[in-house]
Amino acid sequence: MKLEGNDWIYSKKVKEHFIKPKNFLKNQKEIKDFNGHGSVGNIKCGDLMEMWIKVKNNKIINVKWKTFGCASAIASTSMLSEMLLEKGGMQLEKALKITGKDIMDRLGGLPAIKIHCSVLGDQALRAAIYDYAQKNKRTELSVEKPIEEEHH
Ligand code: FES
Repeated sequence: MKLEGNDWIYSKKVKEHFIKPKNFLKNQKEIKDFNGHGSVGNIKCGDLMEMWIKVKNNKIINVKWKTFGCASAIASTSMLSEMLLEKGGMQLEKALKITGKDIMDRLGGLPAIKIHCSVLGDQALRAAIYDYAQKNKRTELSVEKPIEEEHH
């Protein structure tokens, strides 16, 4: 299939996740079941990302996210959410080690100018883990306080 105008420059995986994002928050009512929440802004484009996690026995057993970001941010965060929930949920320490590159590798790459979009989900994840750690006195988890958004 050929798209109008520019050819689709994204991998098949990116396209799949963009068209059918996994774990996207559809209804505000869903968020009552979560125990960590993070919200971050992308300083490059001003887009926002919110993420909710449910942690049980040190594992992330549920994730929801919502963004006003672009296709790359949607595809990357969808992939990230899938990675977190694989094999019954990822341990927090391991989740904190996920990088934008890990997500991109799983997606089969992104166009270079879109790389900053792929970190939005992982920053929101760190912010959600920070929130969980604060509320549950998990001070041993080495997660930095998220950078407050700057409003200009
Ligand atoms: S352009 Fe803003 S998240 Fe991609």
